[in-house]
Amino acid sequence: MCGIVGYVGSATASERPLEVAIEGLRRLEYRGYDSAGVALVGPGGSLEVAKKAGKLANLVEELDARPLAAATVAIGHTRWATHGGPTDANAHPHVSGKVAVIHNGIVENFHVLKDALLADGVEFRSETDTEVVAHLLARAYDATKDLTTAMQQVARTLHGTFTLLAVHADAPDTVVGARHDSPLVVGLGDGENFLGSDVAAFISHTRDALELGQDQVVTITPTAVEVTTFAGEAAEGRHYTVDWDAAAAEKGGFRSFMDKEIHDQPQAVADTLLGRTDTRGRLVLDEIRIDESVLRAVDKIVVIACGTAAYAGQVAKYAIEHWCRVPVEVELAHEFRYRDPVVDERTLVVAVSQSGETMDTLMAVRHAREQGAKVLAIVNTHGSTIPRESDAVLYTHAGPEIAVASTKAFLAQITAAYLLGLYLAQLRGNKYADEVTEILDELRAMPEKIQQVLDRAGRVREIARWMADTQSVLFLGRHVGYPVAMEGALKLKELAYIHAEGFAAGELKHGPIALIEPGQPVFVVVPSPRGRDSLHSKVVSNIQEIRARGARTIVIAEDGDEAVRPFADEVFYVPQTPTLLAPLLAVVPLQVFACELATAKGLDVDQPRNLAKSVTVE
Ligand code: AGP
Repeated sequence: MCGIVGYVGSATASERPLEVAIEGLRRLEYRGYDSAGVALVGPGGSLEVAKKAGKLANLVEELDARPLAAATVAIGHTRWATHGGPTDANAHPHVSGKVAVIHNGIVENFHVLKDALLADGVEFRSETDTEVVAHLLARAYDATKDLTTAMQQVARTLHGTFTLLAVHADAPDTVVGARHDSPLVVGLGDGENFLGSDVAAFISHTRDALELGQDQVVTITPTAVEVTTFAGEAAEGRHYTVDWDAAAAEKGGFRSFMDKEIHDQPQAVADTLLGRTDTRGRLVLDEIRIDESVLRAVDKIVVIACGTAAYAGQVAKYAIEHWCRVPVEVELAHEFRYRDPVVDERTLVVAVSQSGETMDTLMAVRHAREQGAKVLAIVNTHGSTIPRESDAVLYTHAGPEIAVASTKAFLAQITAAYLLGLYLAQLRGNKYADEVTEILDELRAMPEKIQQVLDRAGRVREIARWMADTQSVLFLGRHVGYPVAMEGALKLKELAYIHAEGFAAGELKHGPIALIEPGQPVFVVVPSPRGRDSLHSKVVSNIQEIRARGARTIVIAEDGDEAVRPFADEVFYVPQTPTLLAPLLAVVPLQVFACELATAKGLDVDQPRNLAKSVTVE
């Protein structure tokens, strides 16, 4: 989710390339902001690089203090760390000889490529996957003396997701880019051309754009744009005119960051899965730094988190207990901290946090470690405090989550928790490698299924607009559907300021059913009828019970489940998927519903009242 800008202009060196790059990075800063950098090429073979950890302002301050020479070409990058913390050394661009390169994505096979370069005596200055690409490009250029050909050659060797831009000191009129599973667009100017991870990078200069297709390489000069395949055959991008304004461009054309991030979820799950298996398909979580013998001796797992992250932890409980046969407790961090919990050196505490700065969770982490427990953090923000104070970390790769209410980070947290459960099951011998691989294959199919749910969400939006004046909504779920119901209620509270409550469906007759009166809207998350049928039939009975008392039942069920139809006023179907993975799909209609209803009420869905993105006080 990094921000990428490229520019090539007049053959006369000037400040314009740097100005265009910095302005573009400002517009892209929401895509990643833990470091930033630029590379400039000018006539006479000059290549200059400036890069700083922290916000873009730190780079601008650096450039003010140590100005770079006038140039004809620029590439710029704002980083959202995936490999290697937010440091000056890990900031992009990465340089090798006369080549500078910037990258958005994850090179899955960088370990193998790096080992070969190390064996050849190449010295590395960073922990990133991108520096590997820089060295490969420099070597390919030395052999071909052509940056486009070099990029084509290197791109063919990379696995994973990548948008790459590269410049060479000997080519002051050229920027070369390549993309695979990560966006890259060309901005077509008059005597100048632009590149960007999205149109926000250059929208103030041109609205004439060319979107590159999968596995394409583009070469821009001041007067030409050449597109090829990775094999070097001529190809074409998709030409279009950008009709968004600058503000909309920063949200990828969506009305809000909330809406954009709901739609980013397939990519967030896919990116969180990337690079987690070895060449034989076995799960490898190389960020986990807890000794395998310690993990084998664990006799209890305690998940600590707050809010949405806690609901991700609750989903994880069902999966990890089922796969690992280890008891998993899920505790609200602020309760865990002060209830004198029973933890010791055989307890694995898992701290789940998008921001990595939630004070309640951080204090609980400190307390757990004082009691001798090992702490593993599942966090989205590299370099944040919670991973620094934990024994190990498993990063989610959801990219920066701007909207206060968490969506894509939630799905990424669940995905990371599944990976942890499978890793422990494999390590502790509860599952054979082929069983783990089978579940990983199901997980890899989830991004496409999430996209299907998003593609079907029109009716959800319609119902949400129709219910804009609703005063109270209830959410029911059972098994892994229970935390999904709780999260659906939280989203509606946070975004639409409506009283909403989630219940375990089985709890209904123990009290909450008294709330049911004619017209009361109730969402019901129904488990798969293909799983343990007892779960499914019991939830269908729950729907009958509330329908008999006049509730307006809105059911989330899987494709083909006809049993729910007679008792549902509305059914939102999601693709069939294994029971334990179903939360990744079932929550999406609830997110869309909350976002749409709040939007219909004219509320600010990105910055809801009274809330902060990271609660850094206890
Ligand atoms: C989620 O929509 C809320 N914004 C909030 O509950 C959040 O999940 C909670 O504060 C935890 O934040 P964290 O994941 O950054 O630790």
